Amino acid sequence: MVVRPGALAELPALLRHAAPAHRYAVVTDANVAPLWGDTVLRLLRQEGLVADPIVVAAGERAKSRESWAEVLDSLLALGLGRDGCVVAVGGGAVGDLAGFAAATFLRGIPVVQVPTTLLAMVDASVGGKTGIDLPAGKNLAGAFHHPRLVLVDPSTLATLPDQELRSGLAEVVKHGAIADSTYLVGVMAERDAIFDRVASVLAVVVARSIQIKASFAASDPYELGPRKALNAGHTIGHAVELLSGYALPHGHAVGIGLVVETRAGELAGLTAGGTAARVELALGTLGLPTRVPAAMDPAAVLAAARSDKKTRAAQLHYAVLSGIGAVARTGDGGWTFALADDLVVMALEQCRERA
Ligand SMILES: NC(=O)c1ccc[n+]([C@@H]2O[C@H](COP(=O)([O-])OP(=O)(O)OC[C@H]3O[C@@H](n4cnc5c(N)ncnc54)[C@H](O)[C@@H]3O)[C@@H](O)[C@H]2O)c1
Ligand SMILES: [Zn+2]
Repeated sequence: MVVRPGALAELPALLRHAAPAHRYAVVTDANVAPLWGDTVLRLLRQEGLVADPIVVAAGERAKSRESWAEVLDSLLALGLGRDGCVVAVGGGAVGDLAGFAAATFLRGIPVVQVPTTLLAMVDASVGGKTGIDLPAGKNLAGAFHHPRLVLVDPSTLATLPDQELRSGLAEVVKHGAIADSTYLVGVMAERDAIFDRVASVLAVVVARSIQIKASFAASDPYELGPRKALNAGHTIGHAVELLSGYALPHGHAVGIGLVVETRAGELAGLTAGGTAARVELALGTLGLPTRVPAAMDPAAVLAAARSDKKTRAAQLHYAVLSGIGAVARTGDGGWTFALADDLVVMALEQCRERA
């Protein structure tokens, strides 16, 4: 893992060392190709590496079965063999797709991740999860495929729209909320530098968030224990994202989910009073929404949470903060709580936008 302003220039040398290959396929999307994909190709070719682009549709559309199949066909057409390597340059969508293509091509070839969104830097590129969506839902096909190298150059965030930056900041707030209150306060204090894309400040933020994510994910690939803490805000967040018809960006929905779940934790007596208000303050400072849209009925939100294809749980489970900077644990060491529906409905009501 390399996190440094200007690190992109070191990519060729790092590739030779961490992922030597006959040919590199640079997978990127239509937005990122002219901004950063072409730069990466040029850098690799300048240093004598054989590199060709594969450009997919931008956004979640990249994670379709069709585009996965197209990437596999392109890898073959470009002449990649088992001694080839995929370099993913883009957001989490490109990273998930390219990682899954690499995991499945010829039963697996190496992948290198070069994330260019804040969300991909602090979340998607850490932990080795790759995958695509099925018509029935998000991330329903996938594999663990750890990258040979993750190279984060915060300078690439210069071209990222504010809205996308904010989406990543919601996960940053989550990281602070579950593990490090000092970090959370620091991020709030650096708001202006963050939105001005000051690369040195962004590098510090990304590095700390990666550390936090890795500390929960490293020992727990299959999400049986500590990794569940990283789902804080996501049970309700996913439901809100779904009910918005994906009009709300993931991070925005997760922020709202974090407020609701934290309020529910307070009502359950698991979370110190005032914690939800502090989460709201942090999100608000960074320009993120904190309230459930008025149009979303609490019962509908719960029903949507229950429809999640990957859990199909009769009983919903939540990772709950004990206060800012720590998660609550169950009596027998568990990481999630089965909060009662009526309590969550109450929290949803209390955290709902006034119509
Ligand atoms: N594998 C994991 O552990 C994991 C974790 C979290 C999220 N994800 C996945 O990540 C995806 C979301 O990632 P995302 O938020 O990065 O979305 P994204 O990849 O769709 O990127 C968002 C938008 O920003 C554009 N973009 C990317 N980098 C840019 C740059 N530097 N400048 C200008 N525009 C740029 C993209 O073209 C796209 O339009 C989801 O599919 C989600 O499931 C995976
Ligand atoms: Zn998330």
